Amino acid sequence: MHERSRSRLTGNPKVRYIVADIYDWVPDMSYDAVTFSFWLSHVPASKLDDFVSKVARCLKPGGRVFFADQRREGLIREVMDPPCGEIARRSLINGREFKIIKHFYSSEEIIKCFLQEGININISNTATLFYYASGVKYHAQKSQVP
Ligand SMILES: C[S@@+](CC[C@H](N)C(=O)[O-])C[C@H]1O[C@@H](n2cnc3c(N)ncnc32)[C@H](O)[C@@H]1O
Repeated sequence: MHERSRSRLTGNPKVRYIVADIYDWVPDMSYDAVTFSFWLSHVPASKLDDFVSKVARCLKPGGRVFFADQRREGLIREVMDPPCGEIARRSLINGREFKIIKHFYSSEEIIKCFLQEGININISNTATLFYYASGVKYHAQKSQVP
């Protein structure tokens, strides 16, 4: 992905590439915007709060976040195993099968965990199988969520 991005951006000096495990990575600056797509559903519940907290720390006050992901109805090539867990079996067209983290957070769960970090999130569904979410980090302190 980095190679493809580099070839498209042809060495834009404003772009910094970092190879890291996101859960270990410590941001060294803050940004006007953070975006991630088809990612949140791969974050296990045990790591969700830490991940969202990291997103909040990456954002300047007034900074924006945007993300999109699959809704549960979009689960076509995967089978949840067990049905109520957060592991799915994904089969590829070459016949190989992988177990992946797949957690369909509800809109309420997403809104609540971002609000805890001072980010107000709005979520909309697409006409088909996806949702998209955007939010702004408050200028003030974190809000208190009951
Ligand atoms: C489902 S893909 C989505 C990627 C991209 N948004 C896209 O649409 O192509 C998730 C990506 O996150 C990467 N990834 C998974 N776990 C990661 C981790 N702990 N730290 C950094 N990247 C990770 C995977 O290698 C994969 O490239």
